[in-house]
This record gives sequence, structure tokens and C-alpha cells, in this order.
Amino acid sequence: MNYEKLFLKAKEARQLAYAPYSNFFVGAALLTSTGEVFTGCNIENASYGLTICAERVAVAKAVSIGQRKIKAIALYGSDEEIISPCGACRQVILEFGKDIDIIMGNDQGIQMIKKAGELLPGAFTLEIG
Ligand code: THU
Repeated sequence: MNYEKLFLKAKEARQLAYAPYSNFFVGAALLTSTGEVFTGCNIENASYGLTICAERVAVAKAVSIGQRKIKAIALYGSDEEIISPCGACRQVILEFGKDIDIIMGNDQGIQMIKKAGELLPGAFTLEIG
């Protein structure tokens, strides 16, 4: 699975977004080091703060079936605007590796790839393991 295909999966996943409050629909596609793909979409709630972003849905799907080796996460939010993960998602993604590639773009395709560590320098961490 190359990054272009992964990015298209994120765009596809956006179709399932549940975003009746913001009308801002986001899709994400996560690639593991073994080549598996997990998609996610944003899921909003009438209690707005309970909304979960597309990226965190994809991470939860992967990790909850034992897939923690995350290579990349692509996201797609709009034809024109290039969106990047919110602060909460950056922290959650970083938990699984500062070298994870975050793939961002628009209808023209991939426009930017950044490492999770670059997007959240000086992040909070605890020594584990
Ligand atoms: N959203 C995501 O799903 N991912 C992001 O990276 C940014 C924001 C969602 C949350 C909310 O449902 C909508 O976009 C507007 O903020």
C-alpha cells in the first residue's frame, strides 16, 4: 500500500463521517508496518465535547485489535483545505511513535508529509516499558 492509495482510503472513509453539527467531514486511514489499513471518520455528538476525530477512531481500531506498529496516517477533510491533526490527535498518535508519517492533502492529492514528532515537539511523555 503506497501513500497515494492510503490517502485515497482516507478520502473514501470521509464518506462515513458523522458530522451533523459542524458539517466538516473528515476521513483517516492508518497504515501499519505489516501493511494493514484501518480507517476512521469523525463522530460528533450532541454533547459537542464528546466528538471524536477521524484519526483517533483509526488509532483506536488498530490498537484495540493488537496493531500498535503504526507507519503512517493519512487524513482528508476538504477538497481545497489541507487539514492537519488537532492537538489531541497529535498527542494520541505520538504515543505510538514519533516517526509516524502524517499524510495531508486535498483533492489535488498529497500536499505534505510530516513526522508525528515534528507536529508535536516537546510533547508530554512518560517512561514506559
Ligand atoms: N476533526 C477531525 O476529525 N480531525 C481533525 O484532525 C480535525 C478536526 C473533526 C472534529 C469535528 O467533528 C470536525 O472535524 C470539526 O472540528
